[in-house]
Amino acid sequence: MTNASPWAAGEHARIRALFPGAEAAPYFDVAARGLVSTTVRAAVDGYMDERMAGGADKATLWGVVDRARDRYARLVHAEPDEIAIIKNVSEGLNFFAGSLPWRAGDNVIVCPELEHPNNVFLWYNLRDRVGIEVREIAPEDGYLVVERVEAAIDERTRLVTMPSISFAPGFITDVAGVAAVARRHGALTLVDGAQSVGGLATNVRDLGIDALAVATQKCLLSLYGLGFLYVRRAVAETLVPAAVGRYGVDLGDAHETALSEGPLRYQPGARRFDLSNHNYLGASAAAAALALLEEVGVDRVEAHVRALAARLADGLLDLGLPVAGGRPGPHLAHIVAVGESGGGRHDTADDPAMNDLYEHLAGQGVRLSIRRGTLRFSVGLYNDDSDIDRVMDLVRAWARRRVAA
Ligand SMILES: Cc1ncc(COP(=O)(O)O)c(C=O)c1O
Repeated sequence: MTNASPWAAGEHARIRALFPGAEAAPYFDVAARGLVSTTVRAAVDGYMDERMAGGADKATLWGVVDRARDRYARLVHAEPDEIAIIKNVSEGLNFFAGSLPWRAGDNVIVCPELEHPNNVFLWYNLRDRVGIEVREIAPEDGYLVVERVEAAIDERTRLVTMPSISFAPGFITDVAGVAAVARRHGALTLVDGAQSVGGLATNVRDLGIDALAVATQKCLLSLYGLGFLYVRRAVAETLVPAAVGRYGVDLGDAHETALSEGPLRYQPGARRFDLSNHNYLGASAAAAALALLEEVGVDRVEAHVRALAARLADGLLDLGLPVAGGRPGPHLAHIVAVGESGGGRHDTADDPAMNDLYEHLAGQGVRLSIRRGTLRFSVGLYNDDSDIDRVMDLVRAWARRRVAA
């Protein structure tokens, strides 16, 4: 990442104009859900028009899904056959985890404090159903520490799971470092990419991971109800999927409703995890959003969001606010968490001053969240310096008011 702007003159303004929601007030909530663009809206309208006119036959709809799958595969440097179409992150994590040949006494390594519950509960479920051991490790200053993973690993470790960016406080995980340790010990890696893919450049080969689940409503700038599960081909082809539908079974050119007898032949790679009719509306939206990301280039998206987040973090620190992780460094992606973490609350911060700041900002139309007791600002492609300026002005006014009170 350099400090030089990644944009040609006027280029970012044209991109921002595709997101009308960016104009009203600073929108710093991509970590909850990203704004959608007029191009996504047009794709969704197009889908609805087709359906209302009685069109949108299956071949057309599968074409949309294939476009979304192909673009997503390019985005993360995978092959299309390594991508399954799913509904949300949970589904992807469960499809993969549930299809592994667990034996009682195998273990999984997870750091619950950094995870969304959706990458915690499935392990307790497998513990209770199958008898696996859930090896919970603690973070250090908000980080998943590679050495702690290594210390917890043994010959019964089948899998290490981690978030590419933690749910809270939102720091970048050293995914490649953890994956290298897992590989050395013969364990697989499963990554919750909910907070990073589309915002940060992702190369599944360079990361050396085995599986990655993401949904499309955050940095992929489209809708709820569609996601992608990457599974490395060599791993996918050893797995018998725990959930099976027609689309995951290979019957050649046979009709969608054809039956078959005998042992099932699964689709190649991760396609075996496709179940049946997809969320075609979500796929239409995702295909359009992925086209925009491809055109813009995710490297530039990353440079942009990280530079703005760094500016915001520096500005808030200069005003004396407790920014998690301190000054910008390799940990900082597009999420700036403010306040002392530790609480489990989502609607109120632990620190009354942070609640007051939240109310002040929200009262002026700024969109942000509170997660695990801290304020969470998250920067998207559509944000620009004017959003940071506006928030900094509001925070300064708030700080003056508190001094005067
Ligand atoms: C790290 C992380 N994982 C998962 C999710 C959501 O999972 P799902 O797509 O299953 O709703 C979120 C959403 O807030 C998240 O931040």
